[in-house]
Amino acid sequence: MTDWKHGRRILLGITGGIAAYKIPALVRLITKSGSECEIIMTRSAKNFAAPMTLETLSGRRVWDDDSFDGRIPHIKLTHWAEAFVIAPCTANTLAKIAHGLSDNLLTSAVLAATCPVLIFPAMNGAMYDSPATRSNINTLKSRGVKVIEPSEGALACGDSGRGRMPEPHEIMHGIFRALCVQDMAGKNVLVTAGPTHEYIDPVRYISNPSTGKMGAAMARSAWYRGADVRVIAGPVDVDGYGMEVVHVKSARDMLEAVRENLSWADYVIKAAAVGDYRVKDFSPVKMKREGTDTLTLKLVQNPDIAAEAGRLKRPGQILVGFAAETDNVTDNARTKIIRKNLDCILANDVAAENSGFASDMNTITLIPREGREETFSGLKEDIAFGIWSRLIAG
Ligand SMILES: Cc1cc2nc3c(=O)[nH]c(=O)nc-3n(C[C@H](O)[C@H](O)[C@H](O)COP(=O)(O)O)c2cc1C
Repeated sequence: MTDWKHGRRILLGITGGIAAYKIPALVRLITKSGSECEIIMTRSAKNFAAPMTLETLSGRRVWDDDSFDGRIPHIKLTHWAEAFVIAPCTANTLAKIAHGLSDNLLTSAVLAATCPVLIFPAMNGAMYDSPATRSNINTLKSRGVKVIEPSEGALACGDSGRGRMPEPHEIMHGIFRALCVQDMAGKNVLVTAGPTHEYIDPVRYISNPSTGKMGAAMARSAWYRGADVRVIAGPVDVDGYGMEVVHVKSARDMLEAVRENLSWADYVIKAAAVGDYRVKDFSPVKMKREGTDTLTLKLVQNPDIAAEAGRLKRPGQILVGFAAETDNVTDNARTKIIRKNLDCILANDVAAENSGFASDMNTITLIPREGREETFSGLKEDIAFGIWSRLIAG
């Protein structure tokens, strides 16, 4: 585990919104990630989530307006916290915070907080869009408070609109971004991830076992460090919270999407496992097995997306390729740097145990065009963090 993700001290404020039913799952995620969680509940919040559940999951008492242990709780808790997360945040508490009220333990703690404060408003769409709430949000943002806008969708009240609190794992992403060093703020990062599908007929395709995990880890790590991130993903699920995700199927679709986004990017990470070949003659109807004991497919080469990005590369842009190899891993990778005009290649031994496709672990050798090679082993998310530190250092 990287230290930025481990053993963090998170103060969680819960207010009286219906989305509080999701908060026990968030507390579980926080403690599972190796961080500690202290909880403050408003009086109204207790109607929506049971304090005993939260105490069990956090392993600590829950603080409310009646709690006192001989020390002033709002000062003690805010001195302890590295991040203060208010989720869900009602329109009522949002208004109080915006106006500096401190009429309960939670709002008093916000006033006393010197750590980053993250507010996750959740309410009916009309309440959210009301001029009063908009003005309160703008006030808080202008003071540097991080207000994470809710998403649109079906709301618990039966309406639909903007007002849904993000899911617990998405709130975790927000917390980690707030806690992480922001040394990529202002940078644009384009990542390709996952396999491609090269269709033979409407129901069959040629592909590879890539799950997109390494690309997703590179994307998420850059986002935690403050970058704006776009992911061009083959047909796999990508947790794209906070990022833009463009889904494509074939290598030619991916090339198109890369061309469209290339000039925007300061860093381009080519982590997708792009199919080198496609069938020469795609069958527009399902091919029949009857009468064909054997089947010969004629394949033609797909475009080389990394080489094309290398050809179009603008000055100052950093282009990083991946080489998934099974033999002579680093030698094979090294030849691609010059041929494709890359700045760096990440050689990935996909045949090694606990490494490569689908695994949460990996072993990658970073080979720069010039300079020291470095091998990273471990969880993909930790490797991604280490690779970014090297890339940023230049
Ligand atoms: C069933 C029910 C659901 C509610 N859901 C929300 C909600 O999602 N968001 C919100 O801002 N207020 C909601 N309210 C209103 C708040 O509970 C109310 O404003 C309360 O005073 C908030 O107190 P607090 O901000 O101190 O927690 C709801 C009220 C009820 C009765």
